[in-house]
Amino acid sequence: MTHSTAETVALGRAFARGLRGGDVVLLCGPMGAGKTYFAKGIVAELGGGEEDDVASPAYDIVHQFAGRETVFHYDLFRMQTLSDDDVAWLMESLLEHGVHVLEWGERIESALRRPRYKVTIAAGEGEDERVIVIEAVA
Ligand SMILES: Nc1ncnc2c1ncn2[C@@H]1O[C@H](COP(=O)(O)OP(=O)(O)OP(=O)(O)O)[C@@H](O)[C@H]1O
Ligand SMILES: [Mg+2]
Repeated sequence: MTHSTAETVALGRAFARGLRGGDVVLLCGPMGAGKTYFAKGIVAELGGGEEDDVASPAYDIVHQFAGRETVFHYDLFRMQTLSDDDVAWLMESLLEHGVHVLEWGERIESALRRPRYKVTIAAGEGEDERVIVIEAVA
């Protein structure tokens, strides 16, 4: 449970300390859940940039941050339904060396044939509360 954007960024940072190149992180949860704040923490921890550099990629599908590990930050929001070409492109992109963080990651989960972390963010009781569940899926 976090109580502010700062706590969500801090949790993203702490989580990122255990990440290695090749890891895939699916960020799941509705619009405004806090997926981008969690991603900011991952990018900051891996040395890829300042928090402010990380936004929901509005026009691009993926942004790349060069740090201790390269972080690929995807937003699949505009990929409502994934065509075969979309899936092929994503699977190819996930082979790039680095840490791959995907907002709306649930959209590719059924096509994914590799271990991943799944981070699910839901609203809590208070306005600024978020319930964040982190799972490792083999
Ligand atoms: N504990 C919290 N953690 C993260 N964000 C919070 C928290 N409490 C309130 N918020 C607010 O919730 C919103 C989260 O925005 P964010 O862009 O991270 O969501 P998102 O899941 O990436 O949404 P989208 O699917 O639109 O990209 C912000 O307006 C932020 O201020
Ligand atoms: Mg976002």
